[in-house]
Amino acid sequence: MSKSILVIGSSGQIGTELVEELRKIYGNSHVIASDIKKPQVEQTGPFEELDILNKEQLHAIIKKHNVKEVYLLAALLSATAEKNPAFAWDLNMNSLFNVLELAKEKVIDKIFWPSSIAVFGPTTPRQNTPQFTVMEPTTVYGISKQAGERWCEYYHNKYGVDVRSIRYPGLIGYKSLPGGGTTDYAVDIFHQAIKTNSYECFLSENTALPMMYMSDAIKATIQIMQSPKENIKIWSSYNLSGISFTPKEIAVEIKKHYPNFNITYKPDFRQQIADSWPQSIDDSRAKEDWNWKANYTLEKMTNEMLKNLEQLLKQKI
Ligand code: NAD
Ligand code: SER
Repeated sequence: MSKSILVIGSSGQIGTELVEELRKIYGNSHVIASDIKKPQVEQTGPFEELDILNKEQLHAIIKKHNVKEVYLLAALLSATAEKNPAFAWDLNMNSLFNVLELAKEKVIDKIFWPSSIAVFGPTTPRQNTPQFTVMEPTTVYGISKQAGERWCEYYHNKYGVDVRSIRYPGLIGYKSLPGGGTTDYAVDIFHQAIKTNSYECFLSENTALPMMYMSDAIKATIQIMQSPKENIKIWSSYNLSGISFTPKEIAVEIKKHYPNFNITYKPDFRQQIADSWPQSIDDSRAKEDWNWKANYTLEKMTNEMLKNLEQLLKQKI
């Protein structure tokens, strides 16, 4: 039986787009989508219902499809995790252990596991945050991602596990909805601009955060996974940078398309999370080691988001 790739958490914001791209490269039947919930879009290849915390179910799917590569995307994100810290820790850590163990036992060959800018905390330098620096995350999500990075590096050093990772910034795309993060406003704002010409933002106007257009994030994910092993020098997780902007700056960009667009600000608990994260990221190691380069500026992303989302929302009416 030919080898296949398993994406766990495929119904989420990243999984929806990643599965589509992987299927273009490796063929529909070789990329198995899996999630605890139904997909956001119609599937062009196999979909398996999977609770990643259920080891037997995971092992059965790996065996059934001869899976050799796993993209583990299932997790609770920053805002949702704060509402249920114990469960967030359980899901974010044990999902990773279940997959790392499969690689340790040589059942699978390669893993992608995403980390996040949330690994940094209020004591981290906030501008152009270095790859190696102080990391004292204050959210349960950030703590789980930092611990996950340590475990990835440990499994690599100790057992030779090939597990590759990126610290994604906040991701923005039109094909799927975000799943409970602090950066979700930067997706919602486009939906609301088109639907109501107005948006009430849960972060304050000058809150700068590192962000990235989804197609850049997917490109980086596939690029790091396809890089020759000898090019990977960091086995915890790579800093990755796209664009940095504030709610006020993205609103100005949207106003170029919707001149009457109105934004108001009503910060909630997510403000404190955002204030503990970097404002911009130094990703020179990703550039040096595996040739990373982002394509999207704020202007280019806004054009793409509005054009594609307008079309999609029209089709749904
Ligand atoms: P998401 O919340 O949109 O998707 C996660 C998916 O995992 C959901 O479809 C959910 O149903 C699924 N899931 C939850 N519990 C599961 C379980 N027990 N078994 C199987 N599936 C389960 O998240 P996302 O934005 O797609 O993020 C994917 C990964 O990327 C996460 O690890 C997240 O921390 C990381 N990340 C995302 C961003 C971002 O801006 N989206 C930024 C940094 C890091
Ligand atoms: N976008 C993510 C979040 O806000 C960052 O990891 O949780």
